[in-house]
Amino acid sequence: MKPVISVKGLTVAYDDRLALVDVSFVFPKPAFLSIIGPNASGKTTLLKALLGIVRPLTGSIEVLGFKIPDEKYEVRRLVGYVPQRERIDPTKPVLVRDVVLMGRVARRGWGRSLLEEDYRAAERALKAVEMSEYWDEPYVHLSGGQQQRVLIARALAVEPKLLLLDEPLSGVDAATQDVILNVLREEADRGVGVVMVTHDLNPLMEYSDYIMLLNKTVIAYGATHEILREELLEKTFMRRVSIVRAEEKVVVSGVDYHA
Ligand SMILES: Nc1ncnc2c1ncn2[C@@H]1O[C@H](COP(=O)(O)OP(=O)(O)OP(=O)(O)O)[C@@H](O)[C@H]1O
Ligand SMILES: [Mg+2]
Repeated sequence: MKPVISVKGLTVAYDDRLALVDVSFVFPKPAFLSIIGPNASGKTTLLKALLGIVRPLTGSIEVLGFKIPDEKYEVRRLVGYVPQRERIDPTKPVLVRDVVLMGRVARRGWGRSLLEEDYRAAERALKAVEMSEYWDEPYVHLSGGQQQRVLIARALAVEPKLLLLDEPLSGVDAATQDVILNVLREEADRGVGVVMVTHDLNPLMEYSDYIMLLNKTVIAYGATHEILREELLEKTFMRRVSIVRAEEKVVVSGVDYHA
């Protein structure tokens, strides 16, 4: 089986500012990977590079066995992407179901009509995030946390082989975080690759299989219990960090800013 993601020597710059420097890693098989790093450390840029949205200066990328950027359209059909802080024009009368069905449009290709199975997949996705009752609601009537769940449903509706989620937990309460993390855990258990960018380290011990610490380059990458260590987090965030372990729970403090 081809690795879910394989990245070698990836360097990305915006004009003359380097956002990623010589990033290399292999995500060999479907599992739950979390990417952690401070603001401006290149997390969003890495996800965009995987989708061929930003072009590398140097390096090679393969996603699901396809070369990026050459085969980016093949990859985009197989990936559910939840961008960071997406806004849908509040003046547009978009319903929740339209947002979720966009995931099916992306999968089929633009201009094709949607079939019964597309509606079924969209309904299943909305149910997975516990938002079924909002199918006919205007999207703008939802709270921020509810909107985030709908955007995750849109990514699930693709029936993806890989999910890329950029800060899906930011600005949502603990109950919504649990809903989201449970869905992502289930997807990973069903053989979907899950890559989540997050600031919130605390739920990771319970949910995430692997962690990458990123600060323009890969500081550390491995199994969650190996990576959640004070010295590695301090190197990544360049500040004091403390980890307290109590009865299976792990509490990290010092990395307490919000996006
Ligand atoms: N479109 C762009 N044009 C110019 N510079 C950009 C652009 N997007 C990102 N950058 C720069 O690249 C660097 C990395 O940005 P990126 O958005 O990847 O960081 P991030 O780790 O996702 O940060 P955050 O935690 O704030 O979301 C930053 O210095 C940022 O200013
Ligand atoms: Mg970002």
